[in-house]
Amino acid sequence: MSLPTHHRDTLPPQEVVDLFKRTFSHELYDDLDNVKELVQKVKSDLYSRDYVAAFDDTAKRVAYCCRWSPARAVAYASLFAELGPLNQIVRCQQQSGDQRVLCVGGGAGGELVALASLFTPSRHVRTPSSESLYIHLVDIYDWTNVVSRLQDQIDTNWLYNNQSRFCHTKFTPNDILNMDPEQLQLKQLNLITLLFTTNELFSQDKTGSIKFLQSLTAYCQRGCFLLIAESAGSYSHITVGSKKFPIQFLIDTVLMGKKGQQDHGSWSLVEQSDSIWYRGDSAMDYPLKLENMRCFYRLYRKL
Ligand SMILES: C[S@@+](CC[C@H](N)C(=O)[O-])C[C@H]1O[C@@H](n2cnc3c(N)ncnc32)[C@H](O)[C@@H]1O
Repeated sequence: MSLPTHHRDTLPPQEVVDLFKRTFSHELYDDLDNVKELVQKVKSDLYSRDYVAAFDDTAKRVAYCCRWSPARAVAYASLFAELGPLNQIVRCQQQSGDQRVLCVGGGAGGELVALASLFTPSRHVRTPSSESLYIHLVDIYDWTNVVSRLQDQIDTNWLYNNQSRFCHTKFTPNDILNMDPEQLQLKQLNLITLLFTTNELFSQDKTGSIKFLQSLTAYCQRGCFLLIAESAGSYSHITVGSKKFPIQFLIDTVLMGKKGQQDHGSWSLVEQSDSIWYRGDSAMDYPLKLENMRCFYRLYRKL
């Protein structure tokens, strides 16, 4: 299965990538060698799972964003647009007031730019809806600099004619596993994304991650969506008693109840794929590599 290279409801992928080029023009065009060197450092820290070292300063976080977020943003834009209910939420077509999205592990900006690239065209129509999109990004590292620079460019280049007043972004640098439901406004959310972040949460704190998922069940409103994606085939395994399970089974059980008794759970699985490709246009112009993405995803809806 493949996602469209350009879904017609989003801005064209080259425009999405251009937003990163404009935001980080100094780094990408005046200081590219330095960015490449930092990317190598970040890569080797990530390889040895030393996340603190990988993200311990602004320059490294900017380098990470320049290297990986543009490709993620175009792929996520296509995925969000392709999944019907998400498309409706992000474009505020739900007829049910303002829409609120929480992106867990979204500090590097891929989700933000993807959401904005789907939201923006919905504002460039004759009678745009008067509902707002609220985006809350939470990340354990402080990506304030990256997020605010991207947001400035979104506001000035995409959401002109004062449309930026309908798109509000908040970034909270915090450990999601230590935040309470009020801080996260769980009761008001329409969509939660956990993109390429679940494995990291479970490797940090298995019990805390299960509690976090349980709090989504306890507090999220009926109709809220939860999108989980990871690199296809990469799900870690977890040992329960003497048996080893892929984390996805544990997540399904926590969210939907035991197999065979799934009506006892509080979320239903509405769409899924074990392997879906996003292949970018190879003619895209960007000074660093843009990778294709192959992921596993699951979309749940709160009953
Ligand atoms: C592999 S990156 C994925 C980034 C982004 N979601 C994407 O798909 O491009 C995982 C992200 O999760 C964040 N993260 C890890 N543990 C976290 C925690 N306990 N609370 C909040 N964010 C966390 C990391 O800082 C990192 O930005």
